[in-house]
Amino acid sequence: MSDDSRPSRPEPRTALRTAAVIPAAGRGVRLGPGAPKALRTLNGTPMLIHAVRALAASRAVSLVVVVAPPDGAPEVKSLLDAHALPDRTDFLVVPGGESRQESVRLGLDALPPDYDIVLVHDAARPLVPVDTVDAVVQAVRDGAPAVVPALPLADTVKEVEPAAAPGDPEPVLATPERARLRAVQTPQGFDRTVLVRAHETVTGAVTDDAGMVEQLGERVVVVPGHEEAFKVTRPLDLVLAEAVLARRRLNDGF
Ligand code: CTP
Ligand code: MG
Repeated sequence: MSDDSRPSRPEPRTALRTAAVIPAAGRGVRLGPGAPKALRTLNGTPMLIHAVRALAASRAVSLVVVVAPPDGAPEVKSLLDAHALPDRTDFLVVPGGESRQESVRLGLDALPPDYDIVLVHDAARPLVPVDTVDAVVQAVRDGAPAVVPALPLADTVKEVEPAAAPGDPEPVLATPERARLRAVQTPQGFDRTVLVRAHETVTGAVTDDAGMVEQLGERVVVVPGHEEAFKVTRPLDLVLAEAVLARRRLNDGF
């Protein structure tokens, strides 16, 4: 009996294909002088390669789109060629833009049609565990249009009136209840149509993709993040990232 003669069934949600867009086009000003942040190394391997491996480690992810520094696409392509990556994953490299938002949009523009779920993951979070990636994908497959991994805060947060001159004392306006606050990480996961619509319609400064989807009035949900998904932002974060890698090697018995 040929396949064509079987009665057609609705596709299970698990058949939805997932792509990851990795914005890696930032300069890394807060990290100090040097190569673009995503190309800086952790234990000798570029941060971007760690991030690509972290996303490609998920069996759900079949395509990774890397958004390279505007003039760095050829260099990023050769980096991907030079490092071992899973065979079952496809890779694309596109040049990025002036803002993170623009870089993500350029990554979305490069997505082939047959992907229904999109993860957006900062190259600056190179050590995100695969379990966190899988939890985000699962929540989108379960029907959430937008999913963010997040952690409770250790510090109390104050809302202030920002100082007119650097270093001036800043008046405190409010103290939000800490137990209700979450620090959000990536990968953030989306129904592709919803994320594309957000990038087409929302203007103005936003610091994450889920924030744009919130502005559309769509439901955004939080799943548990992980302390190893922290963002490498300042020089001390490089020390922490290398310490995490050293601990992993020890635990893996190398
Ligand atoms: N990013 C990007 N395109 C930009 C700016 C940022 O793709 N024009 C990416 C960065 O490469 C990073 C992620 O967005 O992976 C999160 O941004 P951030 O941590 O702020 O990185 P940078 O912008 O590079 O750092 P800084 O703000 O210190 O310059
Ligand atoms: Mg930045």
